[in-house]
Amino acid sequence: MTTARGAIVVGASSGIGAALARELAEDGYEVGLAARRTARLEAVGESLPTQAYVATMDVTDTEDARSGLAELFDAMPPVDVVVLNAGVGDSNEELDWEPARETIDVNVRGFCALATATIDHFESRTDVSSDRDGHLVGISSVAAHFGNPGAPTYNASKAFVSTYLEGLRHRQSSRETDVTITTVEPGFVDTDMLLAEEPFWVASPETAAAQIARAIARGRNHVYVTRRWRVIAWLFKALPESVVRRLVT
Ligand SMILES: NC(=O)c1ccc[n+]([C@@H]2O[C@H](COP(=O)([O-])OP(=O)(O)OC[C@H]3O[C@@H](n4cnc5c(N)ncnc54)[C@H](OP(=O)(O)O)[C@@H]3O)[C@@H](O)[C@H]2O)c1
Repeated sequence: MTTARGAIVVGASSGIGAALARELAEDGYEVGLAARRTARLEAVGESLPTQAYVATMDVTDTEDARSGLAELFDAMPPVDVVVLNAGVGDSNEELDWEPARETIDVNVRGFCALATATIDHFESRTDVSSDRDGHLVGISSVAAHFGNPGAPTYNASKAFVSTYLEGLRHRQSSRETDVTITTVEPGFVDTDMLLAEEPFWVASPETAAAQIARAIARGRNHVYVTRRWRVIAWLFKALPESVVRRLVT
């Protein structure tokens, strides 16, 4: 009988996802690595202490990505954790449609296509290897908490991710299956995506990944990365829109 257990990271070719794949492998998981850049995924896989499985996918090709995820489920030991981390974001003050469309395609359509496929898998699996049926982790952002004049689509896409995952948690409470849903909301992390002109409280991808891995191990519902970002999220919720506007413009 196999005791190996699997975790999948979608968006594992760089930044937070690559660092998180490493954390999960160090925790003993065999790791499925998915994204578009195959060579980078292979390099990440070769550096891990456990077996890695590479799946090249573009999450905007939703049917192909859902099939790729299903192939990983079949190829790997029982998959207990799926992390949906793939995301794009660019400043777009001029509201150009092409970058806005791409952001929606990756962060909303792609995310939702793989979240539904993951829940479907966890609710129908017969290979349960732990006391739970599975664990879905979505990488949202503190950006989910406010409208951003410089990147309105990005922040709105992350609001979708956070609200969607909250909905899944509510839905889960009335299901017979025991699937854990974790929302991760990072502040600034030092990756290719960090475009802010004056970033502050910037975490390294390794620090972010270590905190996300801890939240996964503890089965948390929600985590800010790093923890101090909850103050910013709370402020954006508490302040009137007119004050928030002065802060973001
Ligand atoms: N960096 C920050 O300050 C920050 C803050 C809050 C939240 N986040 C979130 O953290 C997540 C990871 O971002 P990061 O900062 O680590 O940036 P990153 O290094 O650019 O990582 C983005 C990942 O998403 C994958 N990806 C992008 N488009 C994809 C597509 N169409 N299909 C499949 N995979 C795709 C990329 O792989 P390929 O290009 O190889 O496909 C890459 O692995 C994102 O969801 C981002 O919104 C980041």
